[in-house]
Amino acid sequence: MKGEQLESVVYASNMGSYEQACKRFQWRDVESHFTWSRTGKVNMAHEAIDRHVYEGRGHKTALLYCDGQREESYTFMQLCMESNRFGNVLRKYNVVKGERVFVFMPRSPELIIALLGILKVGAVAGPLFEAFMETAVKDRLEDSGAVAIVTTPELLSRIPRDELPELKHVFVVGDSSQLTGGVIDFKAEIEQASYEFEPEWLDREDGLIIHYTSGSTGKPKGVYHVQNAMIQHYYTGKAVLDLREDDIYWCTADPGWVTGTSYGIFAPWLNGATNVIRGGRFSPENWYRTIERYQVTVWYSAPTAFRMLMGANEEILEKYDLSSLRHVLSVGEPLNPEVVRWGWKAYGQRIHDTWWMTETGGQLICNYPEMAIKPGSMGKPLPGIEAAILDDEGNVLPPNQMGNLAIRTGWPSMMRKIWNNPAKYDEYFRFSGWYVSGDSAYMDEDGYFWFQGRIDDVINSSGERIGPFEVESKLVEHPAVAEAGVIGKPDPMRGEIIKAFIALREGYEPSEELKEEIYRFVRGGLSAHAAPREIEFKDKLPKTRSGKIMRRVLKAWELELPTGDLSTIED
Ligand code: PRX
Repeated sequence: MKGEQLESVVYASNMGSYEQACKRFQWRDVESHFTWSRTGKVNMAHEAIDRHVYEGRGHKTALLYCDGQREESYTFMQLCMESNRFGNVLRKYNVVKGERVFVFMPRSPELIIALLGILKVGAVAGPLFEAFMETAVKDRLEDSGAVAIVTTPELLSRIPRDELPELKHVFVVGDSSQLTGGVIDFKAEIEQASYEFEPEWLDREDGLIIHYTSGSTGKPKGVYHVQNAMIQHYYTGKAVLDLREDDIYWCTADPGWVTGTSYGIFAPWLNGATNVIRGGRFSPENWYRTIERYQVTVWYSAPTAFRMLMGANEEILEKYDLSSLRHVLSVGEPLNPEVVRWGWKAYGQRIHDTWWMTETGGQLICNYPEMAIKPGSMGKPLPGIEAAILDDEGNVLPPNQMGNLAIRTGWPSMMRKIWNNPAKYDEYFRFSGWYVSGDSAYMDEDGYFWFQGRIDDVINSSGERIGPFEVESKLVEHPAVAEAGVIGKPDPMRGEIIKAFIALREGYEPSEELKEEIYRFVRGGLSAHAAPREIEFKDKLPKTRSGKIMRRVLKAWELELPTGDLSTIED
């Protein structure tokens, strides 16, 4: 029954209202919402949290946290007060505006309080995913010149402090009585700190957050965002997440990734919504229980999760009451049309795909609520956003031609630099007036955009972006590995998995044990999501004459496709 409705909803045309919205739209109207449009000065933590206290919403529930062990709730007032205290702690340790302060810990209320405190002193927050191992942690702290980090006793050993001379303060959340080496007890410090605090008042172009993400070459890049991004977070929270006064909103992403901050922290709280944060592991039961328990109304998740939920047995849907849901969204990887159709049957909801990137800071191309969905399409550019498909010379292509997905520069949450790497930054803007995303796509005659793939070798596994170079660099540190090339191999559940082609050093023989050992070596050095689930040994890897491994040939081998032009190959 519901399935039939989908078709008519899906293909109904709604172009009129979209065009009107685009015509009416002015960023100026969004800006006028913020306190700084009157004072000239800004602080994200003020706009997201404190402001609600000043405007009489202090007793509203801001955060509902659970992880299977802990279950806690915090009002806007409580988050304001606790982050004030951590702000005071940071000032006591002389952390100042513009310095980078990291959080490296599992999801918890303390993570949120730490992050807000960091923003309140005007420092630039650097969230690190809890699964990162030593090499990954070191690369990011070193590149950004972090001065302080908030972590847990369990993760402390992954921070090589003696190799990080700029890292002055390590705050530990949890029992620190057994720890040595001058770590600071987060909770003890907070308990002594005052609730009184004046945030650091910033300019719109002052720093907000730095998220490390992967490209096809080189180490992870520090994508630097500024306070001004809040305009986009606030606006898309309204226009795309459709957040209203009494919504209970749940974004399933970890704050170690950009979705977990832009849409797990900033957008919901700028809009004053009640925000659910769930720690602990994924399971269909855990997730559906969370929706039922908190009566979640707006839910933002990712294709891999929806595919896993789709793969769970049917009875589980009967067991939980998911009828509170009124709006469901997805991001991070292509959302299969069959998942959209299943969502309609399972939840009575259309799953709205959204497209954006770490670099864009916020959503740009979306299926927003008023729009007719074409399953499989990312949607249309939001009012205020101009998107196009460019050829390799930067010319705009007509509909239905595949090319480089690009966005007209100047949207509020656009990254402002790649930390320490202006050349990398400039590559994104090589065609004057455009940001080039690195995705390939086409636009149909109705203005819907269809994702086709990455143009570079970046791998997207379960919505997590992995740079092959970082994995290859780790692989060749293993004593048995002479050369390594890494590709994304299509996978029905995860989108892609990491596959490594390896040439062994003399004296080493291929074996299943060696594969297992190499897998664990990468997992232990970088993180589980970066470790190759598949390894194939080769006598030799295809290389260009300049010695670069040709991943495109590896990929062609894997997919049994023609290898294409081999004129640059070594021999
Ligand atoms: O390739 C696109 C894919 O994820 C990339 C961005 O990854 P990241 O910076 O980690 O940010 C993920 C969450 C914002 C993009 O270049 N991607 C993101 N959303 C979609 C997508 N691919 C297809 N459809 C989407 N909706």
